[in-house]
Amino acid sequence: MTHFLPSLPSILFLLAVFSTTTVNLCFADGGFCSVPSVTETEEEQKHLYWKVTNPTLSPDHLRDLPGFTRSVYKTDHALITPESHVFSPIPEWTNALGAYMITPAMGSHFVMYLAKMKENSRAGRPPSGVERFLFVVQGSASLTNASGAIQKLMVDSYAYLPPNYDHELECVESATLIVFERRYASTMDRLPEQIVGSTDEQPLLETPGEVFELRKLLPQTLQYDFNIHIMDFQPGEFLNVKA
Ligand SMILES: *[C@@H]1O[C@H](CO)[C@@H](O)[C@H](O)[C@H]1NC(C)=O
Repeated sequence: MTHFLPSLPSILFLLAVFSTTTVNLCFADGGFCSVPSVTETEEEQKHLYWKVTNPTLSPDHLRDLPGFTRSVYKTDHALITPESHVFSPIPEWTNALGAYMITPAMGSHFVMYLAKMKENSRAGRPPSGVERFLFVVQGSASLTNASGAIQKLMVDSYAYLPPNYDHELECVESATLIVFERRYASTMDRLPEQIVGSTDEQPLLETPGEVFELRKLLPQTLQYDFNIHIMDFQPGEFLNVKA
């Protein structure tokens, strides 16, 4: 990734590491042109991950012009910016729209989509044998498991749900989630467990030779067959390692 501009306020990377392949997914501020029309008050009202779902590439009046995109699809990575998201109903979900970003049809062994849950919405279950990871970028949703434990997922919180894990995901007002689903592949005897957490509760990890802040959202044990890395860059910072 070489799209680092000194004017970017902060860049979030979600790095999904799947057993044999590493996929860099970047939800970055867009920035060939700044958007001077946005006042500071408007900026303050925007939620933490506003740029995940809102085009920031061009001035308002150019936003929907064909060809105005920074999206790039390659065999080993993709940068999919908001102007490329196309929302449609998600099978088995109620009152929700999804935009698929990565699918097995593109050669991956996982699916990644944005789910926009509207008022009184409910998620469908993943297919049998498929694990699910949710990350909240806007609003909040509640997760109920088979024991009846209800957990509220706010912005920046996440949940890992093992394959065939009985759960309900519901939303009263609105929520936008990043969802990863994948056919569980580990051959460990011990199955993974449900995990619910928040990014800021995770310890900062050492990144020798690098300046960004690194957090890992899932345990690094073999029964979890993938991990999600959150990499925070300050303005002007970039990866030193050549990918
Ligand atoms: C449901 O979640 C609660 C709280 O995290 C946990 O104690 C309980 O074991 C979970 N139940 C199942 C079936 O995983």
